[in-house]
Amino acid sequence: MSTHQSSTETIPAVGAVPRHVAVIMDGNGRWAKRRFLPRVAGHHRGVETVRTLVRACIERGVQYLTLFAFSSENWRRPPEEVGVLTQLLRTALTDEVQRLHRNGIRLRVVGDLAAFGPALVADIDRAHALTQDNDRLTLTVAANYGGRWDILHAANALALAQPERAGSWTEAELAPFLAMHYAPEPDLFIRTGGEQRISNFLLWQLAYTELYFTEVVWPDFNEVEFDRAIESYQRRERRFGRTSEQLKASAPASAPPACC
Ligand code: IPE
Ligand code: IPE
Ligand code: MG
Repeated sequence: MSTHQSSTETIPAVGAVPRHVAVIMDGNGRWAKRRFLPRVAGHHRGVETVRTLVRACIERGVQYLTLFAFSSENWRRPPEEVGVLTQLLRTALTDEVQRLHRNGIRLRVVGDLAAFGPALVADIDRAHALTQDNDRLTLTVAANYGGRWDILHAANALALAQPERAGSWTEAELAPFLAMHYAPEPDLFIRTGGEQRISNFLLWQLAYTELYFTEVVWPDFNEVEFDRAIESYQRRERRFGRTSEQLKASAPASAPPACC
């Protein structure tokens, strides 16, 4: 299936393991507060969870992992905290990128990146170039990312590219201009930290993603918690607007019978 085709039009092959997992890593501040530590201690600790999850995805055969690291709304936080979050991104792009490369991971950073300044943008370009041919896992970090920004940016780019078709653009024509055009839409969305909202993450791409919310805060999230999320995903029936009966009727002949 083309990655440009909407999952609302075509039912993607549903595997036991989600092909693409997208995560809102929330609860770092609360983790720190409970321990009477500064909020930024939670962000530092959260980096450990990222390493754990990357390893877990590779071991389980997940092909795309997308992490929300900094939203377009997070600039509203105190400047010291914004500074630490930006510094963590810089460290990941410089110190960690060799390790990612050695492990066969393709790194992509998506968002309105110019706001981070030319030095960081150059680091991102270098990390993209170094890891672009790796195919064990595509790790996407969303930074200064907002779902509304993404859709608007894509619409503006399409307007410039195909002005003569204004009024007739299709989903398939818009999709290549979205920030994550290289990936299938997420199968499983996980939000840690107890909040049950999307917070302007992948608004377009999450149209038919299975949503999983957990009270566990991000620094405490681990492989056991990840497997819980995957088990929850495996119990879902992804219908994409169809009925349950339609899905069973179109199941491949080799599939075991639904009953008996
Ligand atoms: C998520 O943890 C990390 C980022 C937003 C970058 P928070 O910092 O939002 O933690 P809480 O929600 O305040 O506990
Ligand atoms: C969402 O978390 C953004 C990231 C994890 C990067 P927030 O903590 O910023 O979300 P809200 O403000 O509680 O919705
Ligand atoms: Mg939060």
